[in-house]
Amino acid sequence: MIQIAIDGPAGAGKSTAAKELARRLHINYMDTGAMYRAMAYALMQRGIDIADHAAVEKELGSIDIAVQYGEQGQRVLANGTDVTDFIRTPEVSKGASDVAVIPAVRLKLVKTQQETAEKYDIVMDGRDIGTYVLPDAKVKFFITASSAERAKRRYLEWKAAGIQKDIRELEQEIISRDKTDSEREFAPLRQAEDAILLDTTDMGIEDVLQAVIRRVREVYGDVL
Ligand code: CDP
Ligand code: CDP
Repeated sequence: MIQIAIDGPAGAGKSTAAKELARRLHINYMDTGAMYRAMAYALMQRGIDIADHAAVEKELGSIDIAVQYGEQGQRVLANGTDVTDFIRTPEVSKGASDVAVIPAVRLKLVKTQQETAEKYDIVMDGRDIGTYVLPDAKVKFFITASSAERAKRRYLEWKAAGIQKDIRELEQEIISRDKTDSEREFAPLRQAEDAILLDTTDMGIEDVLQAVIRRVREVYGDVL
């Protein structure tokens, strides 16, 4: 089975690289962040305060987060409803990071992630893929970039969607989420010992992709 783990902080370019790599390999790409986002969204829809961990845990048994693959790539479903288009707001980003500190939430979502990787060849991106979800993955990358560069990338994304954002506010949001993600006790954001570190601050998308492809060829041979 092919297992490729791509971790790193927000806006580093993980999903851009992971998605294109999966496309070229003709295998699935799993965006695990979307699952934490969908969980946060479902809880928020129910009016649950995510800071109240006991209340979150009480809901977990009745929230099913699933992913589906089709023409539009990965779609994420909360109790059968496709929520993919509603989970990119700043509120849901923060909610995802806050809900992701709760071990019971992680165990539930990681189970789905590991079961998927047992069935299909996969490129997975997130925060704990190389360290916790797929510790035996043969290709692991830790992709990062300065917070200023990552904020700039997010700013340009919003701008392309016709929305003007304050770049300093975006950088603050990113720094705050990185802090929550790296400082949590259970499966924090961390580079795996056997992961290749890629600082993409001054790298274009194609350079990043080429670096990843080179490693995939080293490990798996002529698969793309
Ligand atoms: O998945 P992650 O949050 O790590 O980042 P992303 O969504 O893949 O990338 C954030 C934005 O940065 C996207 O709009 C990419 O097109 C852009 N990007 C870039 O400008 N240069 C790179 N080397 C990588 C991504
Ligand atoms: O796209 P971006 O990098 O901004 O975030 P994301 O990958 O969609 O992840 C949203 C949040 O989910 C992160 O800030 C983490 O708190 C959490 N997450 C996690 O804890 N573990 C993962 N494997 C993936 C995401």
